[in-house]
Amino acid sequence: MTDAVTPVLAAERALEWIEPGMVIGLGTGRAAVAFIEALARSHRERGLKVLTVSSSLATAALARRLGLPEADLRDLENLDLTVDGADEVDPDRNLIKGLGGALLREKVLASISRRWLICVGAEKCVTRLGARGVLPVEVVPFAESVCVRALDRLGLPAQVRQSGGARFVTDNGNHVLDCRIAPTLDHARLAAAIRAIPGVVETGYFLDMSPTVLVQHNHQVEVLGG
Ligand code: A5P
Repeated sequence: MTDAVTPVLAAERALEWIEPGMVIGLGTGRAAVAFIEALARSHRERGLKVLTVSSSLATAALARRLGLPEADLRDLENLDLTVDGADEVDPDRNLIKGLGGALLREKVLASISRRWLICVGAEKCVTRLGARGVLPVEVVPFAESVCVRALDRLGLPAQVRQSGGARFVTDNGNHVLDCRIAPTLDHARLAAAIRAIPGVVETGYFLDMSPTVLVQHNHQVEVLGG
């Protein structure tokens, strides 16, 4: 696996989709940070007026520190656009996300966004999902051991994600199981089977959600999808 690079050029290119007055969902991770910094520069230097909704506490803290105004999700039916990163992108623009631990809120924002932009380096593009080997699954803490065993029965050995010597806890108070997966699996069937396990909150599969993907190849950005 190639080390991931921060797709700064792709994140800056995402600004082309932004119009004044938009409500913008902010993803989590390196690509999202690069986009937030670019958006904040436009806000500061060109007076671009937008509102933002964050997919994690870390993103919200950064957006606030950079002076980006926030909207309250409770007041919104839709977002105009969400910009995020991904861990894997297949040729049909299906994704795996969640290595940054914010997959549930990211999926919530994506589900109400009129347009969903994903910024990645070319190393994230795979011929089949699973090539990079990990699928994160968010579970409620009470059900952690039950979910580990159920995932194992599905052929997905899972490890409880750790951080700083303790269990990683998501912004929703849940745990994350990192499942070992392979490209040969039937991902759509697996996604449904995992979601059916009591205690599973969400999976890192983002299938059939039609993002526009901005892929950074060295100094060029390729746009996939409308
Ligand atoms: C956060 O939970 C993730 O879904 C990230 O969007 C994904 O892991 C990509 O992160 P990077 O942009 O840091 O590679």
